[in-house]
Amino acid sequence: MQGNQASPIGVFDSGVGGLAVLREIRRLMPREAVLYIADSGFAPYGDRPAEWIEARSIALVSHLVACGAKAVVIACNTATGVSATTLRERFALPIIAMEPAVKLAAASTKSGVIGVLATTRTLASPNYESLRARFAVGIEVLSQPCPGLANRVEAGDLGGPETRALIASYVVPLLEKGIDTLVLGCTHYSFITAEIQAIAGPGIQLIDPAAAVARQVQRRLGDAGLLTPDATDARAAAPDLFLTSGETGHVRTVIEKLWSHSSRTEAMPILEFPPPVRVTSSNAK
Ligand code: DGL
Repeated sequence: MQGNQASPIGVFDSGVGGLAVLREIRRLMPREAVLYIADSGFAPYGDRPAEWIEARSIALVSHLVACGAKAVVIACNTATGVSATTLRERFALPIIAMEPAVKLAAASTKSGVIGVLATTRTLASPNYESLRARFAVGIEVLSQPCPGLANRVEAGDLGGPETRALIASYVVPLLEKGIDTLVLGCTHYSFITAEIQAIAGPGIQLIDPAAAVARQVQRRLGDAGLLTPDATDARAAAPDLFLTSGETGHVRTVIEKLWSHSSRTEAMPILEFPPPVRVTSSNAK
């Protein structure tokens, strides 16, 4: 189905983290309808092989397109790192992606040492390597993988002792090495910004690209003639819809906590893709 101006913006993430981007999209474009996929049944992506994430991303974008999305936002640094190029080759609609804000951090650091918190897969991606090579010349970049941290947000535990201990274990070593700027390179971390700042201290600048991504969405829709016209409220015709592969009741509760109002959260149809491996307690962190 071909999207038009009144169609929803499709957004996906491995789970609820992409709501941080959606929040900024909503702030900037309040009349746009949105269709969000929280692939929580398969989170975290960050510890999975690149080929798996790419296959899964193709399946999710195919579903968003079939639902009539007019554009797709990859609200996930991990999926962007391994699949943005393929998705843009395969699909004709505008695809807006995101990546750790290394460029901005490198431009604003005074100490010349920046930290990047992200998933293991993001930091191992060629995309990230290229970001560093292009934008962080002469800057020391401390890349910190954070296994388990996105899961705390998926669990809805934003400020509990386990979450705080995990944050400290990742952030304190960076502070000891002299960072003054810290990039939030995973959308899930936006929801624990206050906890990260509390541990990092007021002198450390946190950089979250969510608002910049929303501005990019607005620009791309404008360029493609796909913005909802001023007189139209696309949300009246198509209320926000959240689809999830996770346990619907739990994901709905977490979405409502992060999204701050009630949501229409429904189970997503099972999407076929190779290999259909679910996260189990033995391989989840
Ligand atoms: N929210 C995702 C990101 O921006 C990934 C979290 C995960 O599933 O590992 O990278």
